[in-house]
Amino acid sequence: MDLGLRGKKAIVTGATRGIGRAIVDLLAAEGVDVGLCARNEDEVNDTTAALKARGVNAVGACVNVRDGDGYKAWLEKTATDLGGCDIFVANVSAGGGMDSEKNWWKNFEIDVLHTVRGCEALMEHLKKSGQGSVVIISSTNAIETFAAPMAYNAMKAALITYSKQLSQFVGKFNVRVNSICPGPIYFEGGAWEMIKGTNQKFHDATLRAMPNGRFGTPDEVARVVAFLASPASSLVTGANVVADNGFTKGVRF
Ligand SMILES: NC(=O)c1ccc[n+]([C@@H]2O[C@H](COP(=O)([O-])OP(=O)(O)OC[C@H]3O[C@@H](n4cnc5c(N)ncnc54)[C@H](OP(=O)(O)O)[C@@H]3O)[C@@H](O)[C@H]2O)c1
Repeated sequence: MDLGLRGKKAIVTGATRGIGRAIVDLLAAEGVDVGLCARNEDEVNDTTAALKARGVNAVGACVNVRDGDGYKAWLEKTATDLGGCDIFVANVSAGGGMDSEKNWWKNFEIDVLHTVRGCEALMEHLKKSGQGSVVIISSTNAIETFAAPMAYNAMKAALITYSKQLSQFVGKFNVRVNSICPGPIYFEGGAWEMIKGTNQKFHDATLRAMPNGRFGTPDEVARVVAFLASPASSLVTGANVVADNGFTKGVRF
């Protein structure tokens, strides 16, 4: 199946590791020009060079999405450098953590506000595309009780509601908006590798909850994101796609 991605322009936040990195690698392999950010400059430069080596235009910058003004300026500059924006993937998260009020602000500013700011800053470009697509990375932590009542879980839930409502609002401009809930995703340097080292019991119990006994991989999430981002999923908007290898147990209609 041709996804129809060739020649499109995508902006992906937090794309030097894990799921974000797998997303930009796959989009570039499909012929998409990519703008990306993260905080570590060397990793941004390495990722940008690797994407360029695939023959697409790639522009990377060292940006902390929590800095609202700097982040919005980067989005506008990147859309200009790329010559537009057809696809926006809001991927950065502050991650989980046992809660203090500090965590709630951090997850609000990073998970929620960076997504909202990104959609608002890029909406005119997405409208101009005629095939605009926003993909918001949520988590299965939003849809089932997980570990503890964390800010991460609640803010990821807020993203699903925002995604659905935005999809209704911008549908008339041919902009689609979807969210995705990955389950546990294992990669070197990622959260689950860290948990394996610090809390083996929790890691093993989570692994036992996977019906086929394995975590997901960043590539498996990236393939779902690429489909949602592409014109091939033209009928799909306002959806929340659970890609969790059977981790969640609830029945959803
Ligand atoms: N891993 C999982 O099991 C899992 C499961 C469900 C959902 N998710 C969701 O999937 C998304 C990606 O998670 P991940 O585990 O693949 O990656 P991750 O380890 O959280 O890293 C994500 C990327 O974001 C960048 N980043 C982090 N904070 C940033 C900030 N404030 N400003 C700019 N860039 C920032 C990181 O680079 P720098 O550190 O250099 O900035 C890195 O490139 C998140 O939304 C996460 O909640 C993950």
